[in-house]
Amino acid sequence: MQRTIIITGGAGFIGSHVVRLFVKKYPGYRIVNLDALTYAGNLENLADVENAPNYIFEKANILNVGEIDKVFNDYHPDGIIHLAAESHVDRSILSPLDFVYTNVIGTVNLLNAAKKIWLTNNQEAGSRNLFYHVSTDEVYGALGQTGFFAEETPYSPNSPYSASKASSDHFVRAYGETYHLPVITTHCSNNYGPNHFPEKLIPLFINNVIHKKPLPVYGDGLYTRDWLYVKDHATAIDTVFHKGKIFDTYNIGGFNEWKNIDLVKLLCRLIDEKLGRQAGESEKLITYVKDRPGHDRRYAIDATKISKELGWRPSVTFEEGLSETIDWYLQNQEWLKHVTSGEYQKYYDLQYSKQ
Ligand code: NAD
Ligand code: TYD
Repeated sequence: MQRTIIITGGAGFIGSHVVRLFVKKYPGYRIVNLDALTYAGNLENLADVENAPNYIFEKANILNVGEIDKVFNDYHPDGIIHLAAESHVDRSILSPLDFVYTNVIGTVNLLNAAKKIWLTNNQEAGSRNLFYHVSTDEVYGALGQTGFFAEETPYSPNSPYSASKASSDHFVRAYGETYHLPVITTHCSNNYGPNHFPEKLIPLFINNVIHKKPLPVYGDGLYTRDWLYVKDHATAIDTVFHKGKIFDTYNIGGFNEWKNIDLVKLLCRLIDEKLGRQAGESEKLITYVKDRPGHDRRYAIDATKISKELGWRPSVTFEEGLSETIDWYLQNQEWLKHVTSGEYQKYYDLQYSKQ
């Protein structure tokens, strides 16, 4: 079946894996990557698919209604997978408004564009229009020592990031209820893997261990996150996009909880082994620092529904995924160098402005 899908935020960490999966798996689909290329957008992530005949990149900002409308009018998408967002909790604590603009207003702008094109124009019969909103488990707040986030868990966001994502989720739901816009939302746990911007825990610490720099563990290091390999998140998005029930929500996770300090020690051990360093050498870089304000104690996803109803399961164990991730960073130090020097931001001008 021919389809045109707009993927927003496709130059970012998760978005680039979703774009690659769709471009390669569905040669009959036209995949339009709509991204503003903020500091988190990096087209080098997609160098291997940028010449594929079914891939198009459109530089556009979801805060700019004119730019979005132009892309929607040019391509007439029948599906949207919305990942564009400000995504880093620490940045949200410093500049909450940036998160309100992109995550809340940007999402409402996209909902309006989808509504205009699907509910006002005549659509081809049989097309399965879908506005797929990619959200986070952080909207549910923090867990104590036990329990899991289920789809019915009440929202209780604690950080400006999660508050902005929660707000966008409510708008998506409201557009489903009010205008019958076909929407689905998923809530995924923390992702890790190749192409992760080195401001988040795992890529930052891999980079710091490689360069023997301190590893700043917040607070007591006993905070717990539930980690999923990014390529497994991409396959979950593929599954929900094609098989999920309209107006429904799904939690995505791999039942894989780690206390930060245990994860950091595992990461140090794996890198020491791979680089032939002495056992215990990199652990010495661990430095406890001041805690993040409003730091959520524990996240854990109950992913029973997506596995029972749609048959999705993660494909790798954490040790396999983490080992692959470390290998990727060791083999792609150029990518890391470009990101840390800012050179990656020239890629668009070099590759696209000459067209
Ligand atoms: P990211 O920060 O790596 O990438 C975000 C992308 O969005 C970038 O390419 C950026 O250029 C683009 N973008 C930002 N503002 C934009 C704007 N105004 N207009 C157009 N494009 C814009 O983020 P990520 O980690 O890949 O997360 C993607 C989505 O998944 C987000 O919605 C996030 O909330 C959600 N999510 C992330 C995680 C995680 O662990 N990273 C977990 C669950 C859900
Ligand atoms: P992060 O990767 O920022 O993801 P999130 O805040 O969305 O869960 O952080 C993961 C965990 O690691 C979180 O408990 C905060 C902690 N952390 C540190 O201890 N030190 C760091 O330098 C960073 C970036 C995070």
